[in-house]
Amino acid sequence: MKENILKPLRTFGRSKGKPLSTNQELLMQKEYPKIDISKSVEFAKNPLSNIEGEVWLEIGFGGAEHLLWQAKNNPDITIIGVEPFLNGIVKAVKGVVDQGLRNILLYRGDARQIINLLPDSSINRVFILFPDPWQKKRHNKRRLINEKLLSDLYRVIQKGGALRFGSDITDYVDWVLTKIKRHNGYEWHASERKDWMERPENWPKTRYLEKALREGRQGYFFDFIKF
Ligand SMILES: C[S@@+](CC[C@H](N)C(=O)[O-])C[C@H]1O[C@@H](n2cnc3c(N)ncnc32)[C@H](O)[C@@H]1O
Repeated sequence: MKENILKPLRTFGRSKGKPLSTNQELLMQKEYPKIDISKSVEFAKNPLSNIEGEVWLEIGFGGAEHLLWQAKNNPDITIIGVEPFLNGIVKAVKGVVDQGLRNILLYRGDARQIINLLPDSSINRVFILFPDPWQKKRHNKRRLINEKLLSDLYRVIQKGGALRFGSDITDYVDWVLTKIKRHNGYEWHASERKDWMERPENWPKTRYLEKALREGRQGYFFDFIKF
């Protein structure tokens, strides 16, 4: 099946971004290796083996605002942040150091790679917040969320665990809801609650969402529960 082939996503075109300052270079040299699991042979061989308690996974954390907030507010939970974009990684590392956080691990690269490594039922919560929309119909196939990703996440999320998804693009929301319904393994109480237009308290705004709101777009917020 075509979707099974791990083709690089177009997003990686800008995965480098603007050059790092001297301080950022230093952070990347000294601090990043302490929390980086993307090059860890141990992690690849035996992922999560030395972690106790819940593990959450944030895919495409961008500027790391949400990742850092969750880590600070849930100190007993290990949160793995995945992001290909170097400038996002640097922001996360800086936040970890500035706030003295001890519960963040970082994976620089394509989320699909780390998901392939993760054991079955090993993750309690997954966050995919405001993924790149790829709005033109002919670009839809580049969207991160598709049938294959939903199946792979279904494998790694524990029963009763959640996939949290947000978007400001109604077409992407429709796209995801259709695929979630078709998958049939995630529960969403659409008819009972109209809460998908209200941001939950434990869902801090990111710079991306702030921009969307400034530009007059509404955010849509979902928790899909694996049953
Ligand atoms: C529109 S931004 C949203 C960032 C952040 N979640 C927020 O709400 O502010 C989408 C992010 O997903 C990242 N991304 C795209 N493809 C990815 C992939 N295959 N694996 C992990 N992250 C990815 C991008 O680099 C980008 O930072």
